[in-house]
Amino acid sequence: MINVGIIGCGHWGPNHIRIFSQLPNTCSLMCADLEPKRLGFVKSLFPDIQTTQDYKEMLTNADIDAVCIASPTKTHYEIALQALAQGKHVLCEKPLTLKPEESLKLKDFAEEKGLVLMVGHIFLFNSGIRWLKEYIKSGALGQVYYAYATRTNLGPFRYDVNALWDLAPHDISIFNYLFDSCPTTVAATGHKFIGDTHDDVTFATLSYPNNIAANVHVSWLDPKKVRQMTIVGDQQMVVWDDLDNLGPIKVYDKHVEKTSTYYETYGEFQLLSREGSITIPKIASSEPLKAQGQYFINCVEENQYPALTDAQKGMEVVRVLCAIDESVKNKGACINI
Ligand SMILES: NC(=O)c1ccc[n+]([C@@H]2O[C@H](COP(=O)([O-])OP(=O)(O)OC[C@H]3O[C@@H](n4cnc5c(N)ncnc54)[C@H](O)[C@@H]3O)[C@@H](O)[C@H]2O)c1
Repeated sequence: MINVGIIGCGHWGPNHIRIFSQLPNTCSLMCADLEPKRLGFVKSLFPDIQTTQDYKEMLTNADIDAVCIASPTKTHYEIALQALAQGKHVLCEKPLTLKPEESLKLKDFAEEKGLVLMVGHIFLFNSGIRWLKEYIKSGALGQVYYAYATRTNLGPFRYDVNALWDLAPHDISIFNYLFDSCPTTVAATGHKFIGDTHDDVTFATLSYPNNIAANVHVSWLDPKKVRQMTIVGDQQMVVWDDLDNLGPIKVYDKHVEKTSTYYETYGEFQLLSREGSITIPKIASSEPLKAQGQYFINCVEENQYPALTDAQKGMEVVRVLCAIDESVKNKGACINI
């Protein structure tokens, strides 16, 4: 039995408590939050769980094997460091830390102690994204030209980080995973429309190796909740829409034949563009948070390295976020990563 302690019981933490209560050979033994009200709420849902306002009490509890950190981003580094020092395996919510150096320190420390340290890049456990990865790998899309991601909604607004740090870790981790690489440059603009401390909207352009251009649009100030990504290849194009009831993936069998001379008339263009069918592949749906929790527990139980979402991958996302911040501060300047 793996006993897990959950630190941070705000909006997201109770979901982790539920998952670790449902997985086989796993127990949500304890949870911590600074706010007694949040602990009371969790206790009403999970009457057997032990609660504390001081997460350090959890770290010195010998019955706890692993902790899941779901507190605000600025607390991740310190809590993860202390948890590892006390010999606990760690699953930490995204983004792993506020600085890439901190992520690297955690990575080295976990390796030195022989502990699992994993970051919650939840979309790498999303069945649509997994399918997309295999599809790109199969070569069916051909050479990827460009991709763009849209992650918008009206709120919820956060006070600890801006929309970029809240939402873009998802899209950057997905792009890094799909393209098996990290961007080499970024250029971005950020915009404060509601408050004067945090950007509500960010547009970021990322350049990946192999000439792949990518764009991320995140916003808390939008009429529509959108979770979409489009990948355009030289043979086919794919749209991933996590909220589409018909299925998360649509494959467009469309492309444009490249010729040595460019078309001069609309008729010529029609001959060059190849219009095929649109396919919606059948993809079994599963709860990504559960798959992520199971992966973490398997790594702990079998003493395996969490290669899919290790601290190195967490650090790579944080490095991109910092570069985007720098570009935003410099009014969209191109920043080398
Ligand atoms: N993977 C996802 O899809 C997803 C979704 C939402 C949030 N998150 C991540 O989860 C984390 C938490 O987000 P949230 O929306 O639940 O935030 P939240 O503000 O709703 O909750 C954070 C909770 O942590 C508590 N807290 C703060 N400092 C603490 C400390 N030192 N010890 C114990 N508790 C402490 C707060 O009292 C609060 O209840 C963030 O890192 C966020 O990025 C991930």
